[in-house]
This record gives sequence, C-alpha cells and structure tokens, in this order.
Amino acid sequence: MRLDRPTGVAPRLTIFGAFGAIFALGVATISLPLAAAADSTPAANAPANDGDKPYVVQNGRVDHHVFNGYRRYGDNCLRCHGPDGAGSSYAPALVDSLKHMTKEQFENTVINGRQDVNTANQNVMPAFGLNPDVVENLDDIYGYLKARSDGVLGRGRPKKIGDDDDN
Ligand code: HEC
Repeated sequence: MRLDRPTGVAPRLTIFGAFGAIFALGVATISLPLAAAADSTPAANAPANDGDKPYVVQNGRVDHHVFNGYRRYGDNCLRCHGPDGAGSSYAPALVDSLKHMTKEQFENTVINGRQDVNTANQNVMPAFGLNPDVVENLDDIYGYLKARSDGVLGRGRPKKIGDDDDN
C-alpha cells in the first residue's frame, strides 16, 4: 500500500497531517487481511502454495527453503524423530504433531525443549535454542515438516523445482 502524499502537500504537514497518518495506518491495518484474502483466491495451475502455506511445493517438487528444511531436519531431528518426520519408538511423528500444533507451539518446543513429566516416559526433547543450525533454519524445518504433514510431499529426498528428473 502506498502512503505517500502528492508532493505539493508535504510542507503543510501539521497536526492534521499527524491525524491523517494515524488514520492511514488504521486503514492499512484493516486492508491487509483483505489483500491477503484476495491473493489466496484459487486459480487453475496454481502452485500448492496459495500464500497461506509456509512452504512452496509444486507437483511434489520443492523450493530451496523446503529442501533446506529437509536437510536440516536430517542433520538435527531425524535421529530421534525418524526419517521423513514419521516418528520412532523414542520420539513422536512430527508429521502427526503438526496436524494439531501451531507454528508457535512448534517453535517453543524446539527452542526450549520439553520433557513430559506426567508420564513414565523419560524421553527428552532437547532444547535447540542455542543451536544456530536449528534456530536460523527453523522456518525452513517447519515448512518441510508442514508440507509432509499436509500430505503434499512424499517420503524420501525431495526433488527440487526445476531440477532434472534424475536429480
Ligand atoms: C534426542 C532426541 C530428539 C531430538 C534430536 C529431537 N527431538 Fe523433538 N522430541 C523428542 C522427544 C522424546 C519428544 C517428546 C517429548 C515429550 O513427550 O515431552 C519430542 C517432541 C518434539 C515436539 C513436540 C511433538 C508433539 O507432538 O507434541 C516437536 C515439535 C519436536 N520434538 C521437534 C523437533 C525438531 C524440529 C527437532 C530437530 C531440530 C527435534 N525435535 C529433535 C526427542 C528429540
């Protein structure tokens, strides 16, 4: 949204100008969700990403963020949560977890870790808040897992958009 005034009006910025700016900000705030809603109108041949999704997957192929998430997941999470987010006897299937967790809950758990003290289960989710490889790539890890959880991405090493089939 453009908030600039016609050039000739600029020197007359007074207390009314200030009110005008506050009003304009209010309008901008209200109109943003409307604009987002308009952007997400489904279209033929639209990629799986409709503007609301935290990932880009087209015909089962991923952009570099999702691919990065796949790799970081493999480096940091797979040993407990199993290949492809599918879970293990030690840690839950994140593909299922993300069907009911919010992104904020996901981030909090990864940053702070967790131990379920109400059960006999002694398995620990470590805190990754001091691990830059996880913290700096958390959006990508979330995007990858969310694409898996939403069922738009199969198991295994994803193919990248634009790559040859043998890649
Ligand atoms: C050392 C093993 C281990 C590693 C490594 C690990 N986790 Fe966990 N994680 C667990 C365990 C065990 C739990 C269940 C903890 C509980 O029940 O309190 C868990 C729980 C979670 C949950 C909550 C799931 C739910 O359904 O409530 C999320 C989200 C999560 N882990 C994400 C990650 C991510 C992302 C990574 C990699 C950056 C990761 N974990 C690495 C062991 C691990």
